[in-house]
Amino acid sequence: MCGIIGYVGSKRASDVITEGLKRLEYRGYDSVGIAIYNGGIHIRKEKGTVEEVSTALQFTNLDGHLGIGHTRWATHGAPCKDNAHPHHDCTGKVVLVHNGVIENFIPLKSELEKKGHRFNSETDTELIAHFIEQYMNDGLSPFISFIRTVERLKGSYSIVSLIEGEDKIYIARKNSPLILGVGKDEMFCASDIPAVLNHTKTFVPLEEGDIAVISKLDYTVYDHFGNQIKRTPIEINWSSEMAEKGGYPHFMLKEIHDQVHFIYESLAADVSASEDLLNLFDNIQLVAAGTSYHASLVLKYLLQKFKGKTVESIIASEYPFVSFPTKDTLVIAISQSGETADTIQAVRYAKQCGAKVLALTNVVQSSITRVADKIIYLNAGPEVSVAATKTFSSQLAVIYKMLFSGDKNIDLSQIPQIIETILQQEEFIRSVAAQISNKKNIFFLGRGLSYPIAMEGALKLKEISYIHAEAYPGGELKHGPLSLIENGVPVIVLAPDDETSSKMLGSLKEVKTRGAYVIAITNNPEIEKEAHISINIPHLNPILYPFVLTIPLQLLAYYVSIRKDIDPDRPRNLAKSVTVE
Ligand code: AGP
Repeated sequence: MCGIIGYVGSKRASDVITEGLKRLEYRGYDSVGIAIYNGGIHIRKEKGTVEEVSTALQFTNLDGHLGIGHTRWATHGAPCKDNAHPHHDCTGKVVLVHNGVIENFIPLKSELEKKGHRFNSETDTELIAHFIEQYMNDGLSPFISFIRTVERLKGSYSIVSLIEGEDKIYIARKNSPLILGVGKDEMFCASDIPAVLNHTKTFVPLEEGDIAVISKLDYTVYDHFGNQIKRTPIEINWSSEMAEKGGYPHFMLKEIHDQVHFIYESLAADVSASEDLLNLFDNIQLVAAGTSYHASLVLKYLLQKFKGKTVESIIASEYPFVSFPTKDTLVIAISQSGETADTIQAVRYAKQCGAKVLALTNVVQSSITRVADKIIYLNAGPEVSVAATKTFSSQLAVIYKMLFSGDKNIDLSQIPQIIETILQQEEFIRSVAAQISNKKNIFFLGRGLSYPIAMEGALKLKEISYIHAEAYPGGELKHGPLSLIENGVPVIVLAPDDETSSKMLGSLKEVKTRGAYVIAITNNPEIEKEAHISINIPHLNPILYPFVLTIPLQLLAYYVSIRKDIDPDRPRNLAKSVTVE
């Protein structure tokens, strides 16, 4: 995830852009750049934060009323000056910034290389500038060249582009955020409203696939064929704090909603690092902590059941004491932050024992990337709330892509849309939260692939609501925990219609008979009938149920926390990344 901005008007563009980039920095902070047009296009960019780079390179010394800017969260290529945006074509006359992932960048780049284009960076972005250049060399106008280029791109993008000789900005969006702001004799575009909220409160909502051209006095929106279309401006009345959180009261709720977009980005992640390793190794150990450990349990299940591997999943802090990896072991370490000391220590120990280590992380150049042999990035963008939500779903998305991309029976592309439908039950889930927020103990039950999700639901609830919550495999109840069930104790039963559902019906009846208040997350009519409340999920290939079971549990934890007047973004005693053992 990156932050992008464009300005055209009467003000000094470098001031507007530098200030906007500071507000967008939560979207990425590894390198920063600006391009200003004042007869020629001037680019300044470097690795670092907005404050560091804009001060060192004196952004605001640049004269001109037309410009673009970018703050980067690296996906393709390390954070460094060459990979920082803006990027340009061979001539330096087409300059642009981009947020998203161009999935077909390898064939497109080689097509351009064959035509003689030379690249300065490892990014997927740069080819967009070269494509525009190529179409212009072929005799097309800048506008048509831009449209033709966008037509060629697969993946997600928001693009903001300057072309020398044009006093306008060309923009496009698909599966990546981009807003168009309308001021008096000035126009803006940005990844998010807060970037320009102090200049205008009038915005044109751009739909996926829209292309627009903005100039000082005017804007025009087009569909992807270049036909003009009408988009009605709206007025936004947000406070600056609301704006920072995209209109949501907390980062956690924003991040829950952001999952629709970021799962798409994660499904586009480059997982090639896993291909050879998974073919080469049959003994696999997974190490992780907290939420990432729950993702590892899903990976363990899938590797065993569908790939015939022998897999152990071990809590990172326990790993050096209970595990004996050898040179024949593949260790897969999962860490959102890439900074969790327990996980990094486990990786070091595995390497000392001669094992090969693959790390899944969200943060480019985090500590884990320096100790592991191979890295896969989650592409989930920065997560601010202490409670992991979108990064858990992104971990699942990357895991599924590693194992099932190319499998015609498993349609991963439907996941973002399905999550959207679950989010539509938010108000209902809020009402369910109201019924359990005064309880002291809450239990979660699951079996098979649903059990790690039950564990994740329990962790989320205890972490931000301070209610004691435990997850059990349904069949384990009768071996002890059943004695904890008494009148009114909430039991959250994860019972998708899969191979576990008849057994889960038995577990449900067991707790109900002892007085439990049963909340089922299900699409099985018999379970629905038995439960006191049901949160419905759609029918899917059973292997995909972890994605849809997770979302109601995140919302439930969030709304219980709100009912209890706890700040879910900053739960007591906890830190976002735990850098001590
Ligand atoms: C999740 O909500 C927690 N904040 C915590 O369990 C977290 O998942 C754990 O500390 C591991 O973090 P990592 O993924 O950054 O390594």
